[in-house]
Amino acid sequence: MSAARIAIVGAWGQIGTALRAAFAGREIFAPPHAELRFEDAAAVARLLDDTRPDVLINCAAFHNVDRCEREPEAAFAVNALAVDRAAQACAARGVAFATFSTDYVFDGTLRRPYREDDAAGPLTAYGASKAAGEFLTRRHGARHYVVRTSAVFGTTGTSSKGYTLIDKVLAQAERNELTRMVADVTFSPSYAPHVARAVKDLIDTESFGTHHVTNAGACTWFEFVRTALAKAGLGHAPLERVTYASLGNPTQRPMYSPLESTTLARAGIAPLPDWHAALDEFLAARAARLENARI
Ligand SMILES: NC(=O)c1ccc[n+]([C@@H]2O[C@H](COP(=O)([O-])OP(=O)(O)OC[C@H]3O[C@@H](n4cnc5c(N)ncnc54)[C@H](OP(=O)(O)O)[C@@H]3O)[C@@H](O)[C@H]2O)c1
Repeated sequence: MSAARIAIVGAWGQIGTALRAAFAGREIFAPPHAELRFEDAAAVARLLDDTRPDVLINCAAFHNVDRCEREPEAAFAVNALAVDRAAQACAARGVAFATFSTDYVFDGTLRRPYREDDAAGPLTAYGASKAAGEFLTRRHGARHYVVRTSAVFGTTGTSSKGYTLIDKVLAQAERNELTRMVADVTFSPSYAPHVARAVKDLIDTESFGTHHVTNAGACTWFEFVRTALAKAGLGHAPLERVTYASLGNPTQRPMYSPLESTTLARAGIAPLPDWHAALDEFLAARAARLENARI
């Protein structure tokens, strides 16, 4: 049975924007951050009581990984405690609850893509806060979707950075400026519209539980950007491979965290396209957007 009424918190960022598009035609309630702080449990309860949704989807998060290291209280307030209260409020009202998590719940030492039932072992405050959010969601009953995704790219910049990485490197390449990319961190890229479509399918089929939702395949940041530049006709632009260690960033990140889904197939949901195909779609959408802006 399709969910007819959808409430989304954090609906104006990368994934939220794609979700609003994926659910177009349904009744969508999407208060902006300025109107609803996810940490405000009373405001979340009011949203549920006022809109009576079939599902509440939480896209709000504190996901600047380096800042989370410095501000773990804030990370846990949004990514764990607020998630706990929202899941509880949903369960009390018979509303399904969907929330996003991350490959950063894993430590990156497995050397094969992580499956949904692999053990979490976060290295960062961000990853720990998201893992806590997962556990706190699950304790309020079965009617939840924990959707782990990674390295999201889309047409809307993340609110914390104000740009998408791909847009930034394409613009640098167009100016013939050097781009340095990390070549020893491997992950599964995730195109926001593809993630949103799969989440819609999970919700419409009531496939509750924990799911990995990324584009198929894996690459390093260097490979991802080199491929994007080549596809965009900018293969000549200067691009240098660097190691993560050379950046001198004190935050320890999982070095190998591709995600593999075992649950989508079981739910009868098609796997997401390979990341190369996702890049093609992204670049076509970007070209159309730039063309429209010119007209
Ligand atoms: N982006 C990635 O690469 C990635 C990777 C793995 C997992 N994820 C997870 O995917 C989810 C969505 O990420 P995204 O890329 O769509 O993020 P995003 O583009 O930064 O969007 C987040 C949205 O939530 C809002 N928001 C932030 N804090 C809030 C709060 N305390 N209360 C209410 N609204 C708040 C933001 O509003 P403002 O603009 O006003 O801040 C923004 O509209 C998150 O759970 C994230 O941890 C993301």
